[in-house]
Amino acid sequence: MKFITCSRTFKLLTVLALSMTFLVGQVQLASAKENTFAFEKLNNGLAKTPPMGWSSWNQFGVEINEQLIIETIDVMVENGMRDAGYIYVNLDDGWQQDKGKRTNKPLDYDKEKFPRGIKYLSEYAHKKGMKLGIYSGPGETTCAGYAGSQGHEKQDADMFASWDVDHLKYDACCSHEKSSKSEVQEVFYKMSKPLIDNPKDIVLHACHCGWTDIWEWAGDIGANHWRVGQDISDDFDFPENREGYYFDVLDMLDRGEGLDGYNMPGQWNDFDMLIVGLNGKSKELVGAGASNIEYRTHFSLWSILSSPLLTGTDVRNLDAYTLETLTNKEVIALNQDPLGKQAKTIKKVGNIHILAKEMSDGSWGIAMLNRGSETEVISVNWIEDLGLKSDKVSVRDLWKHKDMGEFPKSYEAEVISHQAVMLRVYLN
Ligand code: GAL
Repeated sequence: MKFITCSRTFKLLTVLALSMTFLVGQVQLASAKENTFAFEKLNNGLAKTPPMGWSSWNQFGVEINEQLIIETIDVMVENGMRDAGYIYVNLDDGWQQDKGKRTNKPLDYDKEKFPRGIKYLSEYAHKKGMKLGIYSGPGETTCAGYAGSQGHEKQDADMFASWDVDHLKYDACCSHEKSSKSEVQEVFYKMSKPLIDNPKDIVLHACHCGWTDIWEWAGDIGANHWRVGQDISDDFDFPENREGYYFDVLDMLDRGEGLDGYNMPGQWNDFDMLIVGLNGKSKELVGAGASNIEYRTHFSLWSILSSPLLTGTDVRNLDAYTLETLTNKEVIALNQDPLGKQAKTIKKVGNIHILAKEMSDGSWGIAMLNRGSETEVISVNWIEDLGLKSDKVSVRDLWKHKDMGEFPKSYEAEVISHQAVMLRVYLN
């Protein structure tokens, strides 16, 4: 009897175990299904080269107004920045009328800050051969606490289009560190779809903090660029991360330099806005500022990495050195090359870090970076480091603006602390 009971109990337990396994499997399957947000791939065909321009956040935070934007546009025309490629002037957080959670009211602009409205500014920018960007986010509030676009994505997309803006920074405030990839995909898709459905061309910056491997999928949901990391601090190489969060220039380089496979025309890894010229005077960014050499190296690295180049300093008060840094057309040419490659590391030994970028004309851009505090002699061997076989190799130094001559096997340079020697190498 006992035996029979045992066998019946055994059968019962077996059935129970099997059904539990089946149930768990179904739940996992369902949750896996839930975890894959199904969307049609979108592509707006914009930003075939990394966007270049100015953004208000790093220097001014939310203290922005019509006069600042008008003066910034005028100065960028006068000082040659527009003609060097800086055509976007982007309002970051703080243009909005309403603080606090979004209500059913349409999103509106602050009438005191912008008495003639946003469309006036976009028309002003367009008359000057420039473009205007704006900012929002997928939450009920934006990162600085203004009304967000959650639940009003199409309404806001159409309103931005009616204001004739050309760029939207859509910022998830790094709030989704614990979110699943599918949640973050859905958040951005809800805005990218109505943007693309609207006839007005609007470049989309899916601003996240490099979490949920955004570089793998942001291009597919219709974004043109996406941050690879957390906010940048106004530091070149700070020992840790300020406030346990901010990335300095070398942190951002190390976070994104291996993501070269995700860059392509129209889709860009974004290493965050430039800190060139902030000199520790940012209203929003933490950081002690960097030296002229370090800011120039930071600009050189962002250029060869094909990051968007959005300067964040007050362009109305640029010193000559900073303006020269920002408008070096030979270095900018590395960034704006139509092939759209991101430089990759070809050597990293001790404090020596060399990156190389293939160009559309068959030449190569090379950055010879000294990450350390002592001067280094850095050399690049064309075959060993680049796999390039050519009996005639000519080298141009892009900060000296000088042809250095022909170097059949390799090129060597003395590089001071935190300097990046920038080269264009032509194989003849
Ligand atoms: C942060 C973002 C900054 C700036 C700020 C505005 O999330 O990383 O670049 O846009 O929001 O509140």
